[in-house]
This record gives sequence, C-alpha cells and structure tokens, in this order.
Amino acid sequence: MKNTVATILKQKQSGEKITMLTAYDYTTARIIDECGINSILVGDSLGMTMLGYDTTLPVTMEDMIHHTKAVTRGAKNAFVVADMPFMSYQTSTYDAVVNAGRLIKEGGASAVKLEGGAEVCEQIRAIVDSSIPVVAHLGLTPQSVNAFGGFKVQGKTLVRAKQIIEDALKIQEAGACAVVLECVPAELAKIITEKLDITATIGIGAGNGCDGQVLVYQDMLGLTTGHTPKFAKMFADAGETFRNGINAYIEETKNGNFPAPEHTFSIDDDIIAEIREDLK
Ligand code: KIV
Repeated sequence: MKNTVATILKQKQSGEKITMLTAYDYTTARIIDECGINSILVGDSLGMTMLGYDTTLPVTMEDMIHHTKAVTRGAKNAFVVADMPFMSYQTSTYDAVVNAGRLIKEGGASAVKLEGGAEVCEQIRAIVDSSIPVVAHLGLTPQSVNAFGGFKVQGKTLVRAKQIIEDALKIQEAGACAVVLECVPAELAKIITEKLDITATIGIGAGNGCDGQVLVYQDMLGLTTGHTPKFAKMFADAGETFRNGINAYIEETKNGNFPAPEHTFSIDDDIIAEIREDLK
C-alpha cells in the first residue's frame, strides 16, 4: 500500500503507530521499503552518516537532491520526506518555497522537513500553500547546535517545555502534517501528541507516547562508529556481519580459496591448448 500524507493522518487518528527510518541511497531505501516501513526520511544527518562531517551544517541543497533522487528510485511505497538543509529556508520564505520545490521536482520526495517552531511558521505556511506537505522538527534541532551549545536534551525546564508546546501548536496551525520531536522528555512528548489533533508526532529520543518513531538506520543496525545516542536501540549488529564478511574475503583472497570454481568462467581445453601453442 502506498503511504501518503493522508495515510499518515489516518494512522494518527486510529492510533496505529507510524514507522520511519532514514535512508540515503537506493539499495538501503529498497530494503527498508520492502520491509513495509511507512516513511523514509532522507535526513540531513547524511552529513555525518554518509559524508563524514561533524554536524549537519555543511550539507547543501545539491547533496540533499543527489541522495533524495537515489532514495526515491528505491522506495516504492514509503512516504519519502527530504530534509531542507541549513540556510535553505531560514533566509526567506521565497528561498524556502523554491528549495522545497526542488526537493519535490528534482529529488522526487513527497514532503520536506525543516527545523524550528514559531520562527519558521511563515515558511511552513508558504510551502504548504504550494501543495508541498511539510514535516516540522522541534526539541533538539541539530541545525541549531551552535545556538544550543551542543547536542542536549531539550524541554526540561518549565519555560522551555512550554515554548516547545507553543511551537507545536503553531506549526500545526501553519499546516505541518507531522512533527519530529527529538530528545525531549517522554512526558512532554506525550502531552504534545495529545494536544495535536492533525499533526502527527514522530519521536526520536522522545518516548513511546508519540504517534510514531524515527531512527537513523546506521544507529539501529549497529553501523555507527563512535558515540551512539542513548535512545538509539541497536536492533541488529550489521556492523559485525559486515566485518566478518570483509575479513573472510581478505583471508580467502590472500590464501587463494577465492574465487572457487563455482565463481569462475570456463573455456574449452582445446582453445587454451592452441593459445599456449601459439605463444611458444
Ligand atoms: O536528519 C535526520 O536524520 C533527522 C532525524 C534524526 C530525525 O532529522
């Protein structure tokens, strides 16, 4: 079944949890899509996971379009959401609409995601008015890492918790179809989920009271090296599987056991004999 903005809303209303994972390339998107995920996020986390940057800040529109194109070629049924990179929408409403349009027209995404609350509502409204669904992002918004002074849990004080609730109500009013709630206390995410009647909440480090969950696929498959966040449960250790396979390949290549006859093409003995004769 094709997942759309309408099916996401239906899931919020019926209480059927929404599943979302990141993907950044054709092969991974195809596997995730075949598993029946509801939505794939082409996150600007690709800055770290695919391009090796320390933050999402250097990611460009060209990077996002390149990866979104690959993902949409692999995803047949998932609702594909593409992240708007840093400074592609903060600068003006005009830039926001033009860049959101590029992710849809050139990338093939079904929706775009941008970070922020009240301060980006004008952009959300303008993009939605251009018939492009928008997913918002509140709590720990990684593009604001310098303003936050690091990657920290958000909404733990009364003032900040109230601000996140206010922002959630404002982005719903502006027309966001969903909102990612990142690194906020579980009770706060639950209150926001209950308060919003149209906008679906998708949590990451926000407890199980949200309408759905999202994870970065490298984190949940054991492919992340170095620090993994507390909320990133490892559902399988693909990293170990990769390492075992690569080590076996190196060993068998060095000892001559690979390639074996079943991986090899043959030729008539007569032809080889003639070639050898000619070369004498
Ligand atoms: O860029 C990303 O992958 C994200 C998720 C962490 C929600 O925004």
